[in-house]
Amino acid sequence: MKVIKLKRSIFQRLLGKPATELPGNNDFWSFTDGKITVNLDKANGLSKVDGAVRLEGKGLPNRIILVHGKKDQYQAYDNKCTHMGRRVDPVPGTETVQCCSVNCTTFNQKGEVIEGPTKKPLKTHPVTIDNNKLIITLN
Ligand code: FES
Repeated sequence: MKVIKLKRSIFQRLLGKPATELPGNNDFWSFTDGKITVNLDKANGLSKVDGAVRLEGKGLPNRIILVHGKKDQYQAYDNKCTHMGRRVDPVPGTETVQCCSVNCTTFNQKGEVIEGPTKKPLKTHPVTIDNNKLIITLN
């Protein structure tokens, strides 16, 4: 599989600045009993395929990135590259997520490493849909 690199400047890569911004409003999700509930009506960043939202804080044990994949499937990953811990971003059209650092470790939907300096997979979490809500069960 040929890896496509997300277009980022060298400064963004050196600083580890992810393309996926923190959401301006954090009231579209909640976290209780090991489950994250996301209200799709309010999660603006997820409305299109390859859109993503960062879920951070609210007592989460790890940062999470939630990605809108093809056929209205959603993938949830720990947002922490297994090389040195930088955040990851979806690469549009590829069904991969990629580290925002200069080394660009790239993971497939299962979290397996496709390319990069680490061999450790990225942790993924099951996502189910209940009406207009997504439930992410943290592993
Ligand atoms: S931190 Fe991700 S490749 Fe180094």
